[in-house]
Amino acid sequence: MPANKKFYFGTNTKMYKTIGDTVEFVEELQELTDDIDRDKVEIFVIPSFTAIKDAHDIVKCKFLKIGAQNMNWEEQGQYTGEISPLMLREVGADIVMIGHSERRHILGETDIEENKKVLCSLEHGFITLLCVGETMEQKQFGVSDEILRLQLKIGLYGVKHEDSERIWIAYEPVWAIGENGVPATKEYAAKMHGVIKKTLSGIFGDDHGKKIPILYGGSVNIQNASELSKIRDIDGLFIGRSAWDAKDFNKIIRSVL
Ligand code: PGA
Repeated sequence: MPANKKFYFGTNTKMYKTIGDTVEFVEELQELTDDIDRDKVEIFVIPSFTAIKDAHDIVKCKFLKIGAQNMNWEEQGQYTGEISPLMLREVGADIVMIGHSERRHILGETDIEENKKVLCSLEHGFITLLCVGETMEQKQFGVSDEILRLQLKIGLYGVKHEDSERIWIAYEPVWAIGENGVPATKEYAAKMHGVIKKTLSGIFGDDHGKKIPILYGGSVNIQNASELSKIRDIDGLFIGRSAWDAKDFNKIIRSVL
């Protein structure tokens, strides 16, 4: 991790932690990482909707950002089961994650829907974490670069250059995520992060595009975190399973710093 750049560490707890679990996790993580200079490091947790408010309430200002795993693109309406930006604002979410692989591939979300969510999230002032990544099939067909460009160009369509300051990107190859996931090699991750960086510069111009942090996710663990963090275009790590124990997450963070 180069000394002059801010590095990001986040975890999405998916559908695993109750309110009680989340509070315990966030409290412990906050304590363990208390001494880390927050000007250089950003740490965030994305729990289930039901736990956002409790998590937010125990976080010391600036110490940890709390996010939501999804959001509808309307403030209100006939969308049973959905959560609106007003509701997320009310419970104190700082970040809205959009287009996680499980939402795209299990719940059938499209790039056009992700785009509506991105625009709505920015309009409501949230940091907007857009997740992108190709499937194994797309990788085998040799179209990973094209898929990433497509997801970024549609997902970020219509975003104002000045709003790009609140965009974060997570590159998570679908084949690298979860229990059957295989982490991307550092060469592959470096190449794909390069494609993303270039695409963002194409969309927003070098001035804005180059500033957007790009996090790598997919089977990040204590063994590979430090190596991945040294890659030039990797600005952070977005971690699932290996970060759900606060002590393990803290160890990963320290292995990078
Ligand atoms: P994983 O999950 O680290 O457990 O592979 C990553 C993710 O889904 O964000």
